[in-house]
Amino acid sequence: MLNFELYNPVNLVFGKGQMEKLSKLIPADAKILLAYGGGSIFANSVHAQVTEALKGYDITEFGGIEPNPRYETLMKAVQLIREKKLDFILAVGGGSVIDGVKFISAAVNFEGDPIDILRKRIRIESNAMPFGTVLTLPATGSEMNSGAVISVESTQEKLTCGGPALFPKFSICDPATVASLPKRQVQNGVIDAFTHVMEQYLTYPHDAILQDRIAESILQTLIEIGPGVAENPADYKLASNFMWCCTMALNGLIQKGVPTDWATHMIGHELTALYGIDHARTLAIIAPSLYKVMFETKKEKLAQYGTRVWNISETDVDKAAKLAIAKTVEFFKTMGMPARVSEYTADYQNTADIIVNRFEERGWRAMGERGNITTDKVREIVEMSY
Ligand code: NZQ
Ligand code: ZN
Repeated sequence: MLNFELYNPVNLVFGKGQMEKLSKLIPADAKILLAYGGGSIFANSVHAQVTEALKGYDITEFGGIEPNPRYETLMKAVQLIREKKLDFILAVGGGSVIDGVKFISAAVNFEGDPIDILRKRIRIESNAMPFGTVLTLPATGSEMNSGAVISVESTQEKLTCGGPALFPKFSICDPATVASLPKRQVQNGVIDAFTHVMEQYLTYPHDAILQDRIAESILQTLIEIGPGVAENPADYKLASNFMWCCTMALNGLIQKGVPTDWATHMIGHELTALYGIDHARTLAIIAPSLYKVMFETKKEKLAQYGTRVWNISETDVDKAAKLAIAKTVEFFKTMGMPARVSEYTADYQNTADIIVNRFEERGWRAMGERGNITTDKVREIVEMSY
């Protein structure tokens, strides 16, 4: 097992009726920015529950954070916080609102131009504004990690940021919020979480036995509940397991002591930046092609995944690994994921060129767990996904 440090200070408050605890979690004299997205929190009573729980608090609201939150919008919130001298942020929404709030939290006290946080990937170690979250969409794990993905509208880029100062102080995770989600968002959540596990698991055989077993159990649970929760998001048993799987998939735990890949995400982010495809749907397009192109270096782990997660009895490694990819593609299809870029845009012919150029410019020439996903491989993966 590789050496590791595990630091995760998030107070995760999980279950029914937990929003009532907000007043215990936020200091009484806090001046709060309540940040939200396009308005789903008004339709499903989450806004009413939050404001009821925070009666008597000084609250300023900031709505309109988009899915794939935009730098340009978030900077308006930064300005509002400075003008009104607010000192706490509450994110109420899905991964986009939470990620947006992480960026706002980092930018408010940042010395210099906040775009550098994204462009120069400056790690936020201190001086961030404290924030908490009320999660309404299980998917990203953002409620219990310190990373964020922000889109820059002016250049059509999707860039990451993060650092130990960007963990939420607390996250309220009430699975009842899943009930109002459109089917597409539940499907997205299942596939995003599934791929998060795969990025940290589907590498090569190593000595971290427990991490493998935890990863496999998250995958198996998502396979067990995914189709059901997409049909019946109000089923509390399914919704609560869905929510917990998503958090566990990306709260840092399964990544400790193991090699990780993340190239599917890096390529997928470009498809969102270029064509606006939902994050999870980009992963469903790219992952199978990546497993095929990187087959020789991933096949042992693919075979292990096939045997343990899909109960494939084939003992030949190559054959078991291929069957495992086929099972994955089938599962993505069951979860309503289109498989190709061309199903989203007719104008896809230059996609690989654009992505390869961007990666070259950023110096991303050696991705993946072995640093062997070169830009030539990226080209092959993207072209295979047309
Ligand atoms: O904006 P509102 O009106 O709230 O509606 C949202 C949005 O339209 C809606 N929604 C959320 N909760 C709802 C609801 N509708 C009805 N009932 C509810 N309870 O769902 C839509 C999508 O929301 P969004 O937050 O964009 O989805 P998700 O949670 O999938 O977040 C995606 C973003 O997270 C980033 C992605 O790149 C993308 O920008 N990621 C963040 C990660 C992280 N911080 O660790 C890792 C991920 O890999 C991912 O990259
Ligand atoms: Zn993701």
